[in-house]
Amino acid sequence: MQTDRGQFTSRFGFIMAAAGSAVGLGNVWGFPTNTASNGGGAFLLMYLVLAFCLAYPALMAELVIGRHTQANMVTALKSVSRGPVMRQFGRFAGFYGIIVASLILSFYSIVAGWMLSFTLEPVAAGAGMASASEWLTNFGTERNLLFTAAFSLLTIWVISAGVEKGIEKWSSLLMPALLVILVLLIIYVLFQDGAMEGLKHYLVPDFSRITEPKLMISALGQAFFSLSLGVGTMLIYGSYVKKSENLPKLGAIVTAVDISIAFLAGLLILPAMFVAQKNGVSIYNETGALLSEDTLIFQTLPALFDTMGDAGLIIAFAFFTLMSIASLTSSISMLEVPVAYTVETHNLNRRTATWIIGLAILGISAIIVLNFESLFLFVVHLTTRYSQPLLGIAICVFAGWVMHRHKILEEVKQGLPEVEKTLFWKVWPVYVKFFCPTLILLTFIQSLRG
Ligand code: PHE
Repeated sequence: MQTDRGQFTSRFGFIMAAAGSAVGLGNVWGFPTNTASNGGGAFLLMYLVLAFCLAYPALMAELVIGRHTQANMVTALKSVSRGPVMRQFGRFAGFYGIIVASLILSFYSIVAGWMLSFTLEPVAAGAGMASASEWLTNFGTERNLLFTAAFSLLTIWVISAGVEKGIEKWSSLLMPALLVILVLLIIYVLFQDGAMEGLKHYLVPDFSRITEPKLMISALGQAFFSLSLGVGTMLIYGSYVKKSENLPKLGAIVTAVDISIAFLAGLLILPAMFVAQKNGVSIYNETGALLSEDTLIFQTLPALFDTMGDAGLIIAFAFFTLMSIASLTSSISMLEVPVAYTVETHNLNRRTATWIIGLAILGISAIIVLNFESLFLFVVHLTTRYSQPLLGIAICVFAGWVMHRHKILEEVKQGLPEVEKTLFWKVWPVYVKFFCPTLILLTFIQSLRG
């Protein structure tokens, strides 16, 4: 079965796909709102440090294990382990990753569905369909179900086409489009009244907050979610990379792209909030804190677009198209995790496997939509706050303790013959063995206490 595994056909294709997975709602939504509510520039600084010092090494662990084993997470973790106990643990961690990836997809599709409906709203408003435009933006079970299903079908459609014709093709098309829309929106917003105040809030660090545990925990969680770590997406993407590619460099590029897009999204969202304020939209809540999370994206910004007249319709359309694209290039990477496992271990063809699994996950999304109050945040926290860090530790343990060091060296050497002379090789193996798991664990314990 190894012979018909997909493979990324070019370096650009891999970078777009992996960066596409990384760049998602976590960047264009999570990062700016986290920054706004955690002391602006102070959060930005901590995020940069943690992303490069903790998330990048963990990303490398996934890429190396994936490319070395040429397999899905379950098979991969099992095959690098020795002894029955470790193999069982590998299997368990692999399954846990697949389940978490699927659950993340189940809530992600709901939010992405909102992005789709908000993309259509300015079209409906422009066409004078007032009641349709209201229906599209009002929180309602029917709307949620319909758009979650629409988004899930898009995801299924891309993934059923495979690695080259699905993931690589669509990521390579959509990611540059995302960048163009983002930059155009930033330019537009920065010229509006009030933008500079937002920029100051974003870029000037409030150093008094930099050591707050809450800030660190949010920054670490943000970095792990944003780089799609722990759940096997990067592992499976790594398994589709050619042996001749230089993995440490690819990983660094993906990390840099992810961070840059998050940074750019901050340049859009925070100034936009203060422009909204100048236009009479309130951006602080009763306690004096900046509005964030869903209020920001679904109320403050649309209220801002409303104040901009006809231009507002175009800006709103562009903004939510951007959010939808970012969501799709991430959701396909989540669905690839269970699909790759099923195709590789159960001899099912890709199309059938994708439809069965995609529809099953859509079923979970529907259950969440129908029990939104009790389930939505529960699933979000269960997966991103608790499971992702634990799985991140497991991946570091597999790369640092379980897999033979010379095997890793051999693997990385194939695309980087002089690896032993690089800073990467001097630092990373020790790092991923001791520092990463310990620091993730400490932050995790801290977050449990908080
Ligand atoms: N990295 C994506 C984002 O920032 C989310 C994601 C998490 C994707 C886990 C895949 C796996 O939105």
